[in-house]
Amino acid sequence: MAKILVAVAWPYASGPRHIGHAVSTFIPADIFARYHRMKGDEVLMVGGSDMHGTPTTVRADEEGVPPEVVANRYHALHARNIEQLGVRYDLYWNTADPNHKRDAQEIFRTLHGKGFIDDRVMTSPYCPTGDHFLPDRYVEGTCPHCGFAGARGDQCENCGHLLDPFELKEPKCRIHGTPPTPRETKHAFFRLSAFQKRLEAYIANKGHWRSPVLSATRAWLAEGLLDRPFTRDIDWGIEVPFPGDEWKAKRIYVWFEAVMGYLTASREFWRQNGQPEKWREWWYDPTSKQYYFIGKDNIVFHTLIWPAILMGYDEKLTLPHDVPATQYMLISGEKMSAGRGRGVWLPDLLERFDPDAIRYYATANMPELKDSSFEWEDFAQRNNSELLAAYGNFVHRALTFAARNFDNRVPEAQFLDAQDKAMVRKLEEQWKKVGQNLEYCHFRDALREAIQLARLGNQYFDAKAPWEFLKKDREACGTALHVSLQVSRALAVIFAPFLPFSSQRLWHALGYDDEVHGQPWQAALDDIPAGQTLRVGKPLFAKIELEEAAESEADRLDVRVAQIVDVRDHPNADKLYVMNVDLGDERRQIVAGMKENYTKGELRDRKIALLANLQTAKLRGIESNGMLLAGEDGPQVGIVMPPEDAPVGVLILGRLGAPRISFEDFRKLSLVVDDGGKVFFLGSGHERVPLKVGDAFLRVDKGIRDGSPVR
Ligand code: MF3
Ligand code: ZN
Repeated sequence: MAKILVAVAWPYASGPRHIGHAVSTFIPADIFARYHRMKGDEVLMVGGSDMHGTPTTVRADEEGVPPEVVANRYHALHARNIEQLGVRYDLYWNTADPNHKRDAQEIFRTLHGKGFIDDRVMTSPYCPTGDHFLPDRYVEGTCPHCGFAGARGDQCENCGHLLDPFELKEPKCRIHGTPPTPRETKHAFFRLSAFQKRLEAYIANKGHWRSPVLSATRAWLAEGLLDRPFTRDIDWGIEVPFPGDEWKAKRIYVWFEAVMGYLTASREFWRQNGQPEKWREWWYDPTSKQYYFIGKDNIVFHTLIWPAILMGYDEKLTLPHDVPATQYMLISGEKMSAGRGRGVWLPDLLERFDPDAIRYYATANMPELKDSSFEWEDFAQRNNSELLAAYGNFVHRALTFAARNFDNRVPEAQFLDAQDKAMVRKLEEQWKKVGQNLEYCHFRDALREAIQLARLGNQYFDAKAPWEFLKKDREACGTALHVSLQVSRALAVIFAPFLPFSSQRLWHALGYDDEVHGQPWQAALDDIPAGQTLRVGKPLFAKIELEEAAESEADRLDVRVAQIVDVRDHPNADKLYVMNVDLGDERRQIVAGMKENYTKGELRDRKIALLANLQTAKLRGIESNGMLLAGEDGPQVGIVMPPEDAPVGVLILGRLGAPRISFEDFRKLSLVVDDGGKVFFLGSGHERVPLKVGDAFLRVDKGIRDGSPVR
């Protein structure tokens, strides 16, 4: 029995999470933990919500509420989504807990005591307009690595590079739009450079890591590790445990205390369970193994910085054994980012679909080595043709046939012929392949081998065609059914880590009263007892029909209220403006041909209707991510105006998160202005949908009527 720590990246409590987050963290971690629990290993699975830092304060500023309101709201939402998704932590905690604060401060103090933290004066970006420092996400600008315009002071979410805020081109204060000035400030620094040699040695035997994880880590080591500021000028977070007033307005950097959460949560779990020293078994026992489930933007924090903190804190501590980070799951080709509002949101998905269908698609399409893409069609198609047609169909056929013809019981297997024996052998083989893949965190392959067993079961059932000899040879027919139910039983066990809900339903249907999750992994090979009473119910899976969801043609669009934050001249085009628009929890850059009709001043701060799901395009070299809707009447152009009091981000027409639509496809759909100036969507049939916020219609500026507001 091995001790396995399953460490799950801590989602920011700053907004809903999207499927990409679940794919990198919750889902693989849960599969892995469930598998090891079944194997009889001692698993400790911990994590929680990352409550602090600028992701939360940025949102709180936008909403005009205190940061704890945002943090508590999204902590509760994450906890609920995790539960709905069937992800079973031993402890899902949060970093605002006083016990986490105390333990994190203790680690901080110890590192300081050992000389691994010292204080230095550095220069940080400062906003002269608002008289404040600009930590992390409060500076925005253009990424020096990839040219992405919305990069933030800590990291470019487009290319994933960690940034120094002064590297940003055209940096600005997120709140005031002012270019920051450098100003001196004192911060506690973590002496990461002191760990260069030890980290190189640590990495030396990590040949089992995924290649992108290894190469990102090696690239950092090759550049030479730099000391990093461990505190920030911000008031939301964990207090710096140093005496003196100068530290009062500073907090520990969110990243450092959040990674410490793996250790503090392990302590907390056992504290809550009355064995306050037991956490040590996952942290000091040299045979224990730690696995960290994260996305690629978190790699070096887990492969270098966190191990360095551990080495510095206590050199006897266990270091991560594997960090199976994933790449990104893109949505129809774009990165899903919680900070920028794109994505297929977990709360919405969980409302609409069976959690096992989500888990299945997420795993089958897991971006283990390269980015993958979430496609709605693909999601429906894989559910219907794999989960439902291969797996669900097979077990349902076996169950109903046995129920109907064998008195609702598992028939006896009298004599196994070559075909039956081959099926049983295949069962063992597939079981072995699934387990081997899971050992190495190859989740996609593991799932493929599992579904392959269902396919083989289906083929066996078809080849045997038990219905043909029910009358002639009831015994042989019974044997075929028995073997089919035995395979079904194995499928319930083998799928249990992947698809916890349907596995339990199947286990119950096969006549078991206990939990499939309590079965040993090895039990997949056990036979099903003849005579056991079956409980045939509904088929295991439901078909996903997307047409239903997109019944209205307008649902191909995602038009929302946005507010113009900033307008600039396009550097290479006379008629175009480049604007930054605010969508509530996301900022976008768009390019619009308004220059002949509006001055910059007339546009700034105005609310607009933004087509948010138009494919991004470069207009004369500048990226445009969305389209401002405007009516035109000859040379006259007037923007489509939401009501004054419309909340920013609210949906005007269509469906939030609708897949991206190409410009050509958008042009085929028409939006018109009626003679009262109201704007309507016209479907190809009789559909005529007004653009509204609440009860208020949207109208076109400048009295434009009877035009076509598409541009
Ligand atoms: N909240 C951060 C993120 O989601 C960090 C998560 S991992 C942690 O990217 F260990 F640092 F918490
Ligand atoms: Zn400012």
